Amino acid sequence: MVNFQFRIMQADDLEEVLITETSSHLTPWKELHFLDCIDSNYWNYVLVDCNAPFALIGHCVVMPGFEEAHLLNITIHPDYRRLGIAKKALQAIEQTCIERNFGRILLEVRQSNVEAVSLYQAVGFQQVGIRKGYYPLPLTHQQNAREDAIVMQKTLTTKIDLS
Ligand SMILES: CC(C)(COP(=O)(O)OP(=O)(O)OC[C@H]1O[C@@H](n2cnc3c(N)ncnc32)[C@H](O)[C@@H]1OP(=O)(O)O)[C@@H](O)C(=O)NCCC(=O)NCCS
Repeated sequence: MVNFQFRIMQADDLEEVLITETSSHLTPWKELHFLDCIDSNYWNYVLVDCNAPFALIGHCVVMPGFEEAHLLNITIHPDYRRLGIAKKALQAIEQTCIERNFGRILLEVRQSNVEAVSLYQAVGFQQVGIRKGYYPLPLTHQQNAREDAIVMQKTLTTKIDLS
């Protein structure tokens, strides 16, 4: 198991973040997307390998909302996959959400992304809908072709405040 920790994403991280992002998604986020999330004070994290502290092994972005959080991005560097890192990262995000009394986490995932759907199912997310044509497809696909998103959510057991 790789020991890793969360660190708040800085603009300086983006060169490295974009390498992982670009090698991982059909239509990767651009620098501007990450900068917008940093400006908006979302929960923007890089995952750092504790045994190689300067190595960024993944990143995630969560948009906190009113009583719910929206997972916008979770990406693990290809060399670090299937080691349980995303699962552990999602559990940590979930814990933070529970501490803030959020009732659920929502996300969208490409219908074709079986790896990610398996991951989300493995940590207890359930499909609650489909967003038709939500995702663009790369230019190599048919012109203007788009892909549906599966909407998934996990309901959280919120802390009861006895004070
Ligand atoms: C999806 C992704 C984040 C998974 O990260 P990961 O750290 O490799 O996942 P984990 O090792 O924590 O896997 C946890 C569970 O998810 C499922 N899973 C993960 N990758 C899988 C794969 N390639 N095939 C099938 N199931 C998979 C399994 O149930 C796995 O448990 P197991 O290894 O005990 O069988 C990673 O593949 C990735 O970065 N993909 C590209 C970016 C992406 O698609 N992000 C999600 C966008 S919505």
